[in-house]
Amino acid sequence: MSPQPPQDTLTATEPAPFTIDQGHGPVVVLVHGFPLEHRMWQHQIDALSASYRVIAIDLPGFGASPLPAHAVDNDNTMDMDDYARSIAAALDSRKVSKRVHLVGFSMGGYISFAFARLFPDRLASLTLVDTKAAPDTADGAKGRLETARKVLAEGSDVVAEAMSCKLFARITCLERPHLVEETKQLMASQSPQGVAAALGAMARRPDSTPDLASIRIPTLVLVGLEDAITPPFEMKKVADALPQSQYIKIADAGHLTTLEQPGEVNQALLSFLEEHA
Ligand code: MLT
Repeated sequence: MSPQPPQDTLTATEPAPFTIDQGHGPVVVLVHGFPLEHRMWQHQIDALSASYRVIAIDLPGFGASPLPAHAVDNDNTMDMDDYARSIAAALDSRKVSKRVHLVGFSMGGYISFAFARLFPDRLASLTLVDTKAAPDTADGAKGRLETARKVLAEGSDVVAEAMSCKLFARITCLERPHLVEETKQLMASQSPQGVAAALGAMARRPDSTPDLASIRIPTLVLVGLEDAITPPFEMKKVADALPQSQYIKIADAGHLTTLEQPGEVNQALLSFLEEHA
């Protein structure tokens, strides 16, 4: 399959999402988690852009990217395929037609699986950071939809408050309260409509486990040893099912490895890219 033209990825009336586009060389695309934006990748943007062209996206409804009109008109409804198409649209708008190295963190990983299903010929490699292939349990999905209703009524602070300490290793919470607080503020600043749309999309996301065996490109699987949201045993299952994977655990990190241990994450990414770019 050849790369999709712009009109196949977004309707003509919808703008491509906001991106940071920095550096030169093979293209590395960074897809953030929930409820965050490109700024969760600041350390990786700085380190990787010395050797690569780094495109960090604000997914629709987050950061500087508005939720698309079709989602707003449809009760803030998005699905993983919509987000994956928005990445393709961002690449089209940046005139990127060569295969890219896609890096997805957590919800960005769920979206990366959708991208791999829809646009397999646009991928050179895939890095999965603190994510999982399994869908939500029925109770988990129900909880997300309740939270989405609450966020629409009360604002994004609801998730920022509930999530902030779950995202980090114990040592980060104890020794780096400023990082926890800054991340909480970043989460609270996201639009309630965007946050609610992503909660619904995550609740409805398909099981990507059956797809893993057919992802026949180099893959890197990274996980924080103390990740309580997408724990190492989930990531090990993903790595074992991928035909060409490297699995790396990051010490003294919870879920938000990119901010907690940026040096380790950058080193893992740079050596993987050096081998495969
Ligand atoms: C994320 O970091 O993107 C979320 O914690 C993922 C999730 O809630 O499943």
